[in-house]
Amino acid sequence: MHEHSRRENVSSAFSSSISPPPPSSSSSSSSFSSSFGCRVVQKVATIAPRKLRRRALVISNSSSTSVKLSANDLEEAKLAVKELVQNTHSNPILIRLGWHDAGTYNKDIKEWPKCGGANGSIRFTKEMGHAANAGLQGALKLLDPIKDKFPAISYADLFQLASVTAIELAGGPKIPMRYGRVDTTTPEECPEEGMLPDAGAPSPAEHLRKVFYRMGFNDKEIVALSGAHTLGRARPNRSGWGKDETKYTKDGPGLPGGQSWTVHWLKFDNSYFREVKEKRDAELLVLPTDAALFEDPSFKVYAEKYAEDQETFFKDYAEAHAKLSELGAKFDPPEGITLEAAPQKFVAAEYSTPKKELSDSMKQKIRAEYLGLGGSPEQPLKTNYFLNIIVIIAVLAILTWLFGGF
Ligand code: HEM
Repeated sequence: MHEHSRRENVSSAFSSSISPPPPSSSSSSSSFSSSFGCRVVQKVATIAPRKLRRRALVISNSSSTSVKLSANDLEEAKLAVKELVQNTHSNPILIRLGWHDAGTYNKDIKEWPKCGGANGSIRFTKEMGHAANAGLQGALKLLDPIKDKFPAISYADLFQLASVTAIELAGGPKIPMRYGRVDTTTPEECPEEGMLPDAGAPSPAEHLRKVFYRMGFNDKEIVALSGAHTLGRARPNRSGWGKDETKYTKDGPGLPGGQSWTVHWLKFDNSYFREVKEKRDAELLVLPTDAALFEDPSFKVYAEKYAEDQETFFKDYAEAHAKLSELGAKFDPPEGITLEAAPQKFVAAEYSTPKKELSDSMKQKIRAEYLGLGGSPEQPLKTNYFLNIIVIIAVLAILTWLFGGF
């Protein structure tokens, strides 16, 4: 059994930790114990073994477990997360879990794990019971079977892997990731409560800066990361925010109810910025901290840009999220494991289709050979060497045939 808290009973921690709904909310509360539940049965345990294309990188991730972590495990776990997300529509809550694990980071504390951050500490009841984490126990539960299947993967890695996979599956950008995060091992290493942003703070823009600057983010990154609210919903019985249900959430998918920021709240795009800017649909949620992005002059520059230009939003989001995923993380090995960098086995069929482009290194090789033969980038070869060689061989063959009798 793992050294974490998930088998402990945390429902009491939640029932006493839910913050009151904001005055504008028309919601009523219900107990946490029934508040999470993706109705589709998980099938992660049934995933068929698959021949992986990548060479296994075997390293030790010693502080969380003595089992070796391999790139193959990470790949398999990613597939398991994909299947989980597709079956449960749990993209938003998995993203929120990864963010809340990482977002406790304090850049001014140099000592690990005192600095907080992406170290898996949110799995302990002590931290999971913080008011800001209401509802996230359900996300941890969803990931339990995957953690059981891949014990070498740290919680910290699994939370971040699940988050970026959920974003990609929702149509969001591919986020460059490293793995090998080391887990904290005891509840005593959990950060203190109150490190995450509060949607109802008196001066929202000032509050956002205080909290996100502490993590080392700038204004652009604050606005980009806020765009994650393009996905998901707020629920009165968790955060105290939002409506019990809206026309966009009453039928799910997944657990029905809550109030979303966008119409298509399982699609990652820039509609969050457009909706927050226009505020034209009362069925959609705008938290005070969301509204601040179009009220504060510095935030507004980026929020306007992202409302107009999804490509820029995706690029900035991916960069900011990659940084978020590594806040306070200690890697083993120190350089981490990058799945994309692992060499791929050569598959001839992949290169035989007419649509396949030559790789950059192949283009360089061909170019080098061409230059070696006397060609120049601007001009074709002055003489056709290949034809000359054929002619010489032909002449030699004729001479041999004519005078071969001597
Ligand atoms: C800017 C400051 C932020 C504030 C004040 C804030 C606040 C909130 C609140 C109140 C909820 C509703 C939770 C519930 O009732 O279940 C929520 C949900 C969510 N947040 Fe944030 N958040 C912030 C930033 C972020 C960031 C940086 C991310 C990710 C990078 C994020 C991702 C999400 C997601 C995906 C949900 C939906 C969860 C679900 O549907 O279960 N948030 N947030």
